[in-house]
Formats: sequence, structure tokens, C-alpha cells
Amino acid sequence: MCVALSRTGGWFRIAFSNPINFQSPNSELFLLQENKSILLPLLRNRLQVHYGIGVGETEQQLVIWQLEEARRAEVAAIDCEREFLLNFVDNLAQRKIDFGSKRIMFLGRNCLFSEVQPAWLDFANSSFDAKCHICLGSTIGNFQPQQEIWDVFSRNTGKGDLLLLGFQLDTYLQETLQKYASHSAYPAFVMDRLEAPVASRPIWSADLESSFISLQFDGMEVFRARKYKKGRVAEELAPFGFSPVLELIDKWKNYCIAVFEKVS
Ligand SMILES: C[S@@+](CC[C@H](N)C(=O)[O-])C[C@H]1O[C@@H](n2cnc3c(N)ncnc32)[C@H](O)[C@@H]1O
Repeated sequence: MCVALSRTGGWFRIAFSNPINFQSPNSELFLLQENKSILLPLLRNRLQVHYGIGVGETEQQLVIWQLEEARRAEVAAIDCEREFLLNFVDNLAQRKIDFGSKRIMFLGRNCLFSEVQPAWLDFANSSFDAKCHICLGSTIGNFQPQQEIWDVFSRNTGKGDLLLLGFQLDTYLQETLQKYASHSAYPAFVMDRLEAPVASRPIWSADLESSFISLQFDGMEVFRARKYKKGRVAEELAPFGFSPVLELIDKWKNYCIAVFEKVS
């Protein structure tokens, strides 16, 4: 099972500066925004289901797109950290001020992704027939085995639903490892979660085959983040009934937005 290792305070510090991305800290948001004309038709008439909100600025942007285009936005969000959900609700309330007459329907669930029941995501008064399940910020890379998160998506999606994923590629695996290891915030926020003081020094490592970067204390893995070889996510999702629709990669080959359709 994967649970978030960060306390929200530590997470806010890292997520606002996004130090891990190559050259462009906000690569995911920029990549989405640059490709808005391609992505918006896919999102426009779908209920958005967000897995992992964090600081939520990217997620909020997708809700804004829907508010610009439709009479309402319908959003479900799942996060094991209650504070992130509360912050997201506050931010959506600000958007309600911006968009006046438009309606925002929101369901937040403070639980693990693995605890989500598909029925929760069926809004009784929804005006959309299908959903787009969205997991941004390389959140998929926290799961080991990866099948855990593919199972979650597979269970919650119906035929015709879309799955939009944002994740870092492994193009700069060694540089990324160096960034994790040299940034003071990472060991600090992971250590926050440990109940007993740790005797040994933190050891960072990268597995070249699986592209997992991990941090060990006292022989125990306390943090992991997977970066992906191009095409690997599509390969792993295929047995779960997801077919590729779109792949967007930034100019540095650092970040990828991929969209899949649940076909079986
Ligand atoms: C890597 S952050 C990404 C956040 C956001 N999508 C972004 O791009 O900034 C992962 C988020 O997912 C949540 N999370 C991680 N594992 C989870 C799990 N197993 N169940 C529920 N929430 C989880 C964390 O609390 C955090 O908000």
C-alpha cells in the first residue's frame, strides 16, 4: 500500500518550488496550458475525478477551463490529507466569485485511493455522461507495485471514461537523483513522519531499469518516486483495458501528459 509520506507543510514547500523538474519548475502546468486547445475538447463534457490534490493549482486550472466553456464544472477529489481538500474547496469558492452564475459541483473524499468506491463518483444530478479521471504531479510514481494504482483506475472507470496522467520521464534520472539528494526539504519532510529518531544517514538511489528513485533510512524505504521511460505507462496500462489517446511531451523531454480511454 502507498500512503503519502509528506506532512502538508513540507509538501507545500516542495510543491510550490517544484525543484525536481528540468529547467522549468512548473512544466506540468505549462504543458497543459500550451495544449489547452487539444485537451479541452476531451475534458469539456466530463465530470473530473482528481486523484491527489496537493497544492491543487494545476487541478484548479482544469476546473477553470471547464467553467470557461460550460455552464457548470463537476469535480470529485480524493486525498488522504484533509488539509489539501479543504484548501481546494477554498480555492474553488474563489473561482465561484470569478465565474458568477456558473455552478461548481464538488465532492471531496478524505481517504486512500484504494478505498474509493466507484459509486461515490456517480453524481445523482450530473449533467455529464462520462468522466475524466485525472492524476497529476507524478503521483502515480509513488506506488510500488505499480499495479496498485492501475487497479484503482481500472476499478473506478467505466467504458468510455478517460484517464489523464501527468508524470516525469526518466530522461534526467541521474540529475533528478542529485536534486532529491541535495535538497534539504526532502529528508526533512520524510523525517517528519518517522516516529523514532533515525540512527543512520539517508541513502538515495536510482534503479536504472525501473526508473524508481528511493530514499532509505535504516534499511527501510521511506520515500520513492518513479520516473518513466517513454511509452512505459501505456505498456503497463494496456492489460487494464486502457488504450492511448494522446501523449504530450515538453521540449526538454522531462514531462509527459498522457491520455487514455477505457475501452474494455
Ligand atoms: C505527488 S502529490 C501531487 C499533488 C498534485 N496532484 C500536484 O500535482 O501538485 C500526491 C498527492 O496525492 C496524495 N496521495 C498520495 N498517495 C495517496 C493515497 N494512496 N491515497 C490518497 N491520497 C494520496 C497526497 O496527499 C498528495 O496530495
